[in-house]
Amino acid sequence: MNATQEQLQVKLEQALVDAFGLDYAGVDPILVAASNPKFGDYQANVALSLSKKLGQQPRAIAAAIVEKLDLSDICETPEIAGPGFINLKLKTAYLEAQLNAIHADSRLGIPTTKHPQREIVDFSSPNIAKEMHVGHLRSTIIGDSIARILEFRGHDVLRLNHVGDWGTQFGMLIAYLREVYPEALTTANALDIGDLVSFYRQAKQRFDADAAFQETARQEVVRLQAGAEDTLHAWKLLCAQSRREFQIIYDLLDVQLTERGESFYNPLLPTVVEELDKSGLLVENQGAKCVFLDGFTNREGEPLPLIVQKSDGGYNYATTDLASLRYRIQQDDAKRIIYVTDAGQANHFAQFFQVARKADWIPNDVELVHVPFGLVLGEDGKKFKTRSGDTVRLRDLLDEAILRFRETLEAKIIEEGREETEEFKANVAKVAGISAVKYADLSQNRTSNYVFSYDKMLSDKGNTAPYMLYAYARIQGISRKGGIDFAELGNDAKVILQHETEFALAKYLLQLGEVISTVEQDLLPNRLCEYLYELSRRFNTFYDRHQGVRVLDAEEPLRTSRLVLCNLTARSLQLGLSLLGIQVLERM
Ligand code: ARG
Repeated sequence: MNATQEQLQVKLEQALVDAFGLDYAGVDPILVAASNPKFGDYQANVALSLSKKLGQQPRAIAAAIVEKLDLSDICETPEIAGPGFINLKLKTAYLEAQLNAIHADSRLGIPTTKHPQREIVDFSSPNIAKEMHVGHLRSTIIGDSIARILEFRGHDVLRLNHVGDWGTQFGMLIAYLREVYPEALTTANALDIGDLVSFYRQAKQRFDADAAFQETARQEVVRLQAGAEDTLHAWKLLCAQSRREFQIIYDLLDVQLTERGESFYNPLLPTVVEELDKSGLLVENQGAKCVFLDGFTNREGEPLPLIVQKSDGGYNYATTDLASLRYRIQQDDAKRIIYVTDAGQANHFAQFFQVARKADWIPNDVELVHVPFGLVLGEDGKKFKTRSGDTVRLRDLLDEAILRFRETLEAKIIEEGREETEEFKANVAKVAGISAVKYADLSQNRTSNYVFSYDKMLSDKGNTAPYMLYAYARIQGISRKGGIDFAELGNDAKVILQHETEFALAKYLLQLGEVISTVEQDLLPNRLCEYLYELSRRFNTFYDRHQGVRVLDAEEPLRTSRLVLCNLTARSLQLGLSLLGIQVLERM
């Protein structure tokens, strides 16, 4: 609900009491946005729902409410329509005052939250020695956007990279490298992530085929867990190598993360098992320690256990998540923990959340949220792969987007007879290419799968990053053309609304705050994309030579007013895009 709706709500509630007495205190006036601008801006539908209770015709009830309603600061005289709807139309002066207020405010009138809290966003979280894949890319892009929105709302956000940097795979990898390439375990930078990934594959093959090697690998894990110096050193080198590669992607994407990998929680794992035991939840099952779950069954329909310690004493992914959960609540004081992973892990989260709840580790004021997302598909509708069937390297994918945008850009520059520097072209291509990938991901409802298509995402038509970036640059073009510095439109520059397209744009500009607070709740950034897309379309209609208004060649004070509307649109786009992790371009 925005500030206007809140005011209307309060006034309507008061009118209900004034008309029908205290029994009607707190009755919801059922205020909704009007479905058609012909009927005004809002509609209160309470009269229809009270008809039975009051034994009166809804129109008469509506009339009684309107009689007590004082909205003269905000609305035109309310009208009663149809069976008893109360139609409310905002006054032009009220709208103008609101726009002037957001024009004067660096946050565009969007308040910070009244309840700031510590929120953790656990996202990206690739695995060491394995390449980051498109699933991690989705997690990185969505998680970053969610974190940006929460930060903008004034929450204290901890962005955690729960890197998979611990576990039996390291025993295998280190044992293998000791044999085939020992320098990798002693010399920094001896490996490249590409090698690391293929060594990992070879090690796995060896492990599966050779019993003696399995034993060596296991001993290596024991040595690692016991902190044996050479093994630990080797492990650190491998992590550092992967980390450098991940960082290249984070830099390209402009994403900040605090790494706190699985290994961080290693010392806390025994306590998890002990505490579960103390709560009486632990059951020994064929040597493994587990907790039985409600609502989860195996193929035979028997209750499913969550294994927290294997029969060989090793711990699982879930045990680490239980330890990290406790740590985040106890040490980080998290009030909401948001996990961004593919939907395929939904059961994993549901299961360890359930165990943590059973163990009474989750205080009432702490919320746990799994934010699932769908798969990235190739244009053939199957899992996204390279032509040869390999997983796509993220660097290649981002580079390709940049390259392809660059080609279109260069063609356009030639066509328009412009001259641009290499620096300009490189920067525009980089920003637009990366933005296209991000926007294509964020503009989908994250729960569905989506088809990765360079052509679609790089197009300047439709709900794409290039479209949004051009819309922004086009507005900056108006300021360049008119020789006006938008930043110098001071507080004495006032908005005046006359034309239909001005009203349509102006009202939409006032809704950004509401959209942002919706995304803060439901964590669906695609809603913000839809808003920005519709905003640019309304702007285009407003600025259209035929349907819209004149701007630079309009008479004063309309000229200034319209420039303010242009600037407000540009600022809204810039803010909205920044919350999606997308940078704008002044010119492209
Ligand atoms: N490393 C995991 C993967 O690649 C994702 C970790 C997600 N976060 C978590 N706390 N489980 O699938």
